[in-house]
Amino acid sequence: MSKKAIGIDIGGTGIKGAVVDVKSGKLLSERFRYPTPEGGSPKAIANTLRELIKNLPNPQGLPVGICFPAVVKNGVTMSAANVSREWIGLDADRLFQRELKTTVHVLNDADAAGLAEAKYGSASKQKGLVIVTTLGTGIGTALIYNGKLIPNSELGHLEISGIDYETKAAFSAKERENLTWAQWTKRLQTYYTALEALLTPDLFIVGGGVSKEHDQFLPLLKLKTPIVPAFNRNSAGIMGAAYWAKKHTTD
Ligand code: BGC
Repeated sequence: MSKKAIGIDIGGTGIKGAVVDVKSGKLLSERFRYPTPEGGSPKAIANTLRELIKNLPNPQGLPVGICFPAVVKNGVTMSAANVSREWIGLDADRLFQRELKTTVHVLNDADAAGLAEAKYGSASKQKGLVIVTTLGTGIGTALIYNGKLIPNSELGHLEISGIDYETKAAFSAKERENLTWAQWTKRLQTYYTALEALLTPDLFIVGGGVSKEHDQFLPLLKLKTPIVPAFNRNSAGIMGAAYWAKKHTTD
């Protein structure tokens, strides 16, 4: 049985992909990155994926897992954050299957990052509830309970004082408002304290590009729950998506 799958991570600004050994989570090819096409329409994104896959070694017949910034139920994208509204209610599994002519399984981007941590990373030996948060354009969340993913938690949109808190605490807010690390960390403190009060997790894992700079903000947070950076920094989405595709494909 082949242990390979293609993992693709679609974000608001970039689309990344590679071939993954789903047993170890290791990337078996170079990681390719293309800019997300302006407007993020399904057709334009499918074209970019076709281009990206052409670069990969022997992609024929490999299942493709795609993670995407939306609630995804049975392959249907139910929302659209930072991409075209055409995605809402779209059977994305079917669309990509038709466009890429191979088996495709789509899942939420933070869930993919969560799976990568559960299978290959910081949550692999953790019992109880792990909350994986990705701090990027938005805030993505994945709930992992005793190693199992509970999909489609949308806790980035937690309302605090009537405000959808991803607009305050995502990394994009730090950049947009030119916040210092200390100013941004104050907001993270409010956010993680609220999550902690509602869910009493056993571990927080922080992913997203900014987790490379975790030294700048994680030590400033005062929480009851341990909080650690993601193990699989930039490739978590790719790894989790590939794992998801393989898990849903029988060969
Ligand atoms: C979306 C989530 C997504 C997160 C990270 C949020 O705005 O609602 O579905 O996981 O951004 O991309």
